Amino acid sequence: FQFKLIGFFFICIILLFISTSKQITGISNSEFFFLSGFTEINVCCVYGSNCTLSCSFRQETDDLYWYYITRTGQVNVHSFYKNRDQLDHQDPSFNGRTSLVEDQVTGRKTALMLKKVKVQDEGKYKCFVSNHDGYILREEVFSPVQTVDMVTSGNSITCSSEGIYPKPELTWSSSPQSSNTVQQTEEKLYNISSSMKLSDMDGDQLNCTVSTRFNNFTSTWMKPSEEHNSINKIQDGHYPYC
Ligand SMILES: *[C@@H]1O[C@H](CO)[C@@H](O)[C@H](O)[C@H]1NC(C)=O
Ligand SMILES: *[C@@H]1O[C@H](CO)[C@@H](O)[C@H](O)[C@H]1NC(C)=O
Ligand SMILES: *[C@@H]1O[C@H](CO)[C@@H](O)[C@H](O)[C@H]1NC(C)=O
Ligand SMILES: *[C@@H]1O[C@H](CO)[C@@H](O)[C@H](O)[C@H]1NC(C)=O
Repeated sequence: FQFKLIGFFFICIILLFISTSKQITGISNSEFFFLSGFTEINVCCVYGSNCTLSCSFRQETDDLYWYYITRTGQVNVHSFYKNRDQLDHQDPSFNGRTSLVEDQVTGRKTALMLKKVKVQDEGKYKCFVSNHDGYILREEVFSPVQTVDMVTSGNSITCSSEGIYPKPELTWSSSPQSSNTVQQTEEKLYNISSSMKLSDMDGDQLNCTVSTRFNNFTSTWMKPSEEHNSINKIQDGHYPYC
């Protein structure tokens, strides 16, 4: 019996040891993850805004490299070493638009501020320190649907919205849906429009909704009544989240 008891204690001690060591590796894993894993982070930037890409390193040196991953390799976005910003090898598309700012987590100047975000800035960024792995930031750009216009002309009504990214959808409350015209501007933003016959309208109200994955906006056109012989436009927006 004594041997059984000793055996039982022995197993308990082994189990305790295993669970403690698991906890220890758990902690060091997350520490490792935070400091040197190639963690992928999604960032959403509003078109035209100044957007901050966070890179929460806690290393002793201030040296830091930011790269943009292209189809064929990578280009330099912003580097810091020898105690100063190094912009000699910066890709021209980032000229005058980058600076290093304090990271919100660590308070160190490791975050990248990208000014006047363009659609072309979308993609993957890599930030790393010498002798460390780094972070991959996957940046998505978003230009919200800000308004939807409805204009009548004769027996037809046109609904339109401009300056949107990513590619929007337009839907009418009446069926059948008429086809949409989508154009892309030089800045890669989308203009969308669609026309339908007023005679195809069911009821007195017609809604037109323009939406992207990020937000949507609906305008309502009401058939002019005898008292108000004009176009009534009511807007009901769902504002951007990102
Ligand atoms: C972006 O930053 C620049 C300078 O850092 C500032 O002048 C400008 O007002 C900022 N723009 C926005 C939209 O915050
Ligand atoms: C149009 O939208 C408004 C508010 O979003 C809704 O209350 C109304 O029922 C819609 N009308 C039609 C014809 O779908
Ligand atoms: C898109 O809409 C804007 C604003 O109305 C206009 O200035 C621009 O010419 C349009 N571009 C295209 C390609 O339709
Ligand atoms: C519009 O946005 C709201 C809130 O973000 C969402 O609940 C709704 O489904 C969206 N409508 C369309 C037509 O995309």
